[in-house]
Amino acid sequence: MDKIAILTGATGGLGQAFIKELLKEDINQIWAIARNKNKLDELCNKYGDKIFPIQCDLCEKSEIKAIADLLEENKPDVKFLINNAGMAKMAKTVDFTEDEISKTIEINCKTPTLICQYAIPYMSKGSRILNISSASSFQPNPYIALYSATKVYLRSYSRSLNYELKDKGIACTAVCPGWIDTEMLKKEHNGKAVKFPGMVSSEKVVKKALKDAKKGKDMSVCSLFVKYEHICSKILPQKWIMNIWGNGIKKYI
Ligand SMILES: NC(=O)c1ccc[n+]([C@@H]2O[C@H](COP(=O)([O-])OP(=O)(O)OC[C@H]3O[C@@H](n4cnc5c(N)ncnc54)[C@H](OP(=O)(O)O)[C@@H]3O)[C@@H](O)[C@H]2O)c1
Repeated sequence: MDKIAILTGATGGLGQAFIKELLKEDINQIWAIARNKNKLDELCNKYGDKIFPIQCDLCEKSEIKAIADLLEENKPDVKFLINNAGMAKMAKTVDFTEDEISKTIEINCKTPTLICQYAIPYMSKGSRILNISSASSFQPNPYIALYSATKVYLRSYSRSLNYELKDKGIACTAVCPGWIDTEMLKKEHNGKAVKFPGMVSSEKVVKKALKDAKKGKDMSVCSLFVKYEHICSKILPQKWIMNIWGNGIKKYI
């Protein structure tokens, strides 16, 4: 039986860092999921035969179902499921279109939940689920309100799932990074260069996430800066942190 990893958002910054680490694991295939076919082809050329590209829009239920069908057809041993694809926009919440609202909730919440549901029956003792949440899940964050709220969902869901799956020897880790240097971050807003405090590399986040997942932790927090943010969110009134965040970011909106 093939041992596989399923990775969404495989062509992005964090996705490619995951591929590099997964290639060191005892698995036969990485099911690499994203929409852009050219970028998927590039992945295959760059990382070789173990990459099994799946072109799929994770906001479309009919396309996500293809993953369930592939699992049913191949009956693999899913050693890693990494729900990494996500969508973010920094803007006033009232400026979001209905389509943007639906898609953000879809890809950040519903899709990872569905893929967990499809993949768990094909997991065995030692299998690991990593759901990429965010440090923005630690408290409400004005101007990325929708994103931050979806990541609260994913963190909460993942930690409960970790608890429920313990008997099977499967762990689910909510990965909660701060700013990471990837394409997702628009480095400029309204002509102003955005300052991202505590920004780290994808490689650093991924190494820590896999290490924590292997230990069975329900959360992975990378870097001292984000650990400090996490502690502050627990001991300080959240309104204070919201004000600091809101005042810092307002100038870019
Ligand atoms: N960057 C940060 O500062 C940061 C901080 C905390 C958490 N995160 C989280 O980390 C995760 C990865 O982000 P990243 O920074 O690596 O982003 P990225 O470089 O922009 O990559 C996003 C990936 O998701 C795929 N994707 C986007 N929409 C999709 C859709 N509808 N269907 C299928 N695939 C889709 C993209 O490929 P296609 O466009 O080809 O589909 C790409 O592979 C996200 O969940 C994000 O919320 C990021």
